[in-house]
Amino acid sequence: MADTPAGHGLLAGKVGVISGALDPNSIAWALAEAAHREGARFVLTNAPVASRFGQLDELAEKTGGSPIVYADATNDDDLDALFAEAKEHLGGPLDFVVHSIGMGLNVRKGKPYEGLKYEWYLKTLDISAVSLHRMVRAALDGDAMKDGGSVLAMSFIGAQRIFSEYSEMGDAKALLESIVRSLGYRLGRRGIRINAVSQSPTRTTAGGGIGGFDTLFDFAEKVAPLGNADAASCADYCVTLLSDYARMVTMQTLYHDGGFSAMGISDALVEQMGGTVGEDS
Ligand SMILES: NC(=O)c1ccc[n+]([C@@H]2O[C@H](COP(=O)([O-])OP(=O)(O)OC[C@H]3O[C@@H](n4cnc5c(N)ncnc54)[C@H](O)[C@@H]3O)[C@@H](O)[C@H]2O)c1
Repeated sequence: MADTPAGHGLLAGKVGVISGALDPNSIAWALAEAAHREGARFVLTNAPVASRFGQLDELAEKTGGSPIVYADATNDDDLDALFAEAKEHLGGPLDFVVHSIGMGLNVRKGKPYEGLKYEWYLKTLDISAVSLHRMVRAALDGDAMKDGGSVLAMSFIGAQRIFSEYSEMGDAKALLESIVRSLGYRLGRRGIRINAVSQSPTRTTAGGGIGGFDTLFDFAEKVAPLGNADAASCADYCVTLLSDYARMVTMQTLYHDGGFSAMGISDALVEQMGGTVGEDS
């Protein structure tokens, strides 16, 4: 937030793992900056391939020299090593874990939903949803999670409703949100909470991979009373969920979308479609 560059100390003393920051457009990039501002220390992680494409070193420097541990979120050995190293770097178990990972292989390669290549589909589900289960499993098995901790995953309203070009990713997000509930029940025994944040369309590498993204972005912008939520505002919301102020919130899909999810049609859209607003029909 522009008027509070020093933050509020919401995450003072907290340590965690933040996945999915690829470049400055990434939602996780903004989240890492916000978590740093609020006093957290964390390990940054991404797929090994991101060490070639990404700019994680720059983010590590900007967030006070955060250690980077590359791990493929679909590889259990990588994840076991990630949480072992994170514990070492941060001096003990974690207060939070952020899952901000997604990729649709059929979507990227232009395969329509009716003609999914199943090998890619399963990979999409693994990268975008099952990896959340894998991460939590690795954190628990490695005794890397503190009681009372918080786990966060990023979702999209395509989990509930059809956005024609979102295709297989709608299935992946539906599974992701279901895993949030299934794990939430089990993690509750230790006071650990887990939630999904359902975010507005956001201009990122993953977002740009969705066909018709610009149209979807403009549509949501015209429908949401507050307009689309950007990555920085998403990050601000996410740090509250990682903080103790949200300690009784778990198993939820929380909409961070400027009100889009509660809307049907808006005046702006009526006008764009040639209709007239504010007159008796
Ligand atoms: N951009 C949007 O419009 C939007 C909207 C709602 C939700 N989301 C979700 O937000 C999350 C972050 O995406 P983003 O929009 O910031 O895009 P992004 O491309 O910046 O982030 C996606 C990340 O996933 C990582 N990743 C892919 N495969 C991986 C693997 N096997 N192991 C580890 N990491 C892997 C990528 O390297 C990348 O850093 C995703 O879950 C995405 O679905 C995005």
